[in-house]
Amino acid sequence: MSSIPTTTTSAAGFFRIPPPPHRIPAAGVRMMAGALQSNASSVGTILTNLQHESATPLPVLRHVADAMTEDMRAGLAVEGGSDLKMILSYVDALPSGNEKGLFYALDLGGTNFRVLRVQLGGKEERVIATESEQVSIPKELMSGTSEQLFDFIANGLATFAEVEGGNFRLPHGRQREVGFTFSFPVMQTSIDSGILMKWTKGFSVSGTAGRDVVACLNEAMERQALDMRVSALVNDTVGALAGARYWDDDVMVAVILGTGTNACYVERTDAIPRLNGTMSASGMTIINTEWGAFSNGIPLTVFDRDMDAASINPGEQIFEKTISGMYLGEIARRVLLKMAEEGDLFGRSFPEKLTTPFILRTPDLCAMQQDNSDDLQAVGSILYNATQVESNLSSRKVALEVCDAIVKRGGRLAGAGIVGILQKMDQDSKGSIYGKQTVVAMDGGLYEHYPQYRGYMQRAVEELLGSEISRNIVIEHSKDGSGIGAALLAATNSKYEH
Ligand code: BGC
Repeated sequence: MSSIPTTTTSAAGFFRIPPPPHRIPAAGVRMMAGALQSNASSVGTILTNLQHESATPLPVLRHVADAMTEDMRAGLAVEGGSDLKMILSYVDALPSGNEKGLFYALDLGGTNFRVLRVQLGGKEERVIATESEQVSIPKELMSGTSEQLFDFIANGLATFAEVEGGNFRLPHGRQREVGFTFSFPVMQTSIDSGILMKWTKGFSVSGTAGRDVVACLNEAMERQALDMRVSALVNDTVGALAGARYWDDDVMVAVILGTGTNACYVERTDAIPRLNGTMSASGMTIINTEWGAFSNGIPLTVFDRDMDAASINPGEQIFEKTISGMYLGEIARRVLLKMAEEGDLFGRSFPEKLTTPFILRTPDLCAMQQDNSDDLQAVGSILYNATQVESNLSSRKVALEVCDAIVKRGGRLAGAGIVGILQKMDQDSKGSIYGKQTVVAMDGGLYEHYPQYRGYMQRAVEELLGSEISRNIVIEHSKDGSGIGAALLAATNSKYEH
């Protein structure tokens, strides 16, 4: 059996450590004599409280894993039965390897959108060629109108489709088919249609929620005179599962840990009471859990509550806000700001830039955590470049402790979530998940580029499962599986024979 192509990318390339800053007090930083003396006792208290309130010892992890399992069951039993939507993906057959032909994928899910084409050659030749392009989405489109966003995407797709040649061949008379990865909560109504329930990850585009996103894309493609057919609408987790399963039959779960987070898994149709006995031909289907909405038993701090209250979706996506890349930097910024205000962490200078929401990003935390030098020079540079604070060795050490507390909780809770899913599958299949090799395919920048986060996650899984069972659970990076996966699902659901 072939295995999923894995990539080991070092964090250094992606999260570049910036050069030391010019040490001039910048505009907005008011320096005073003796500025870098911090009020150690209140900084210490804030740090201890943070570590205490965000701690995830084994009993907390166990509770989270069990609650995840229970919420999955409740969501499968009744529509709206739990925080977890447990969305039916209408993907009842995973790629077999026999898929042949030219297919496209379009991936919208975060700050970028990607277009991809793939020439599939069946069992023998597999993936003959791929080509892709990535376009960043202008910030204003994330809060503009539905038409503006979909016109932008359709335009990108049209431009990409124009230059097709070389190894890519569309048989005469065939319409191009595209797998549309749309990574937001969508209530699927068929394999090629689904209603957007709400935006997540900072998107607040007007006029899409409550609409079929494939219809939105089709209308935009018509406006561009682009003749393509969406043959599969999939969540990124579902794309990742399909992409990874193409190479390895042991893949049963896919998890995205990036800007946002989510997981999907292979479920038996007879274990879905909501289906009232309707079975798929294969007896299985993929369930998109939308676990970002999970909230049961998560240890939250005052910083999480404040961030949530200030967000565009208060009270929603609590798991996502605790473990995913969009939010970790912002939680750390809030802690550092409080330490600066109440404990003079950065001396008596008041770092005004530190009051700007989301100015400190998760890649900044990651880059800081890679600094092993004695004077933590890189930590100082990153803090300065991102927030204009002047730090000394002791405030840098505190900043690292803050990052670690937040990242540790995030990674460990992600691990507990994974065990929650595996546990549910194992209980229902009477041991066939833990008793043999089971692969969890992972994707997303946070998982890929943040070694500390990844390590915390992996160790939490091992703590919860114990060493023997852990040996059967393989957590594997499946890079860009979701793009190829969507194209594969477009092939599986093609209107043409292949
Ligand atoms: C969305 C999911 C998506 C995940 C990862 C979440 O915010 O709700 O649909 O799978 O992000 O991209």
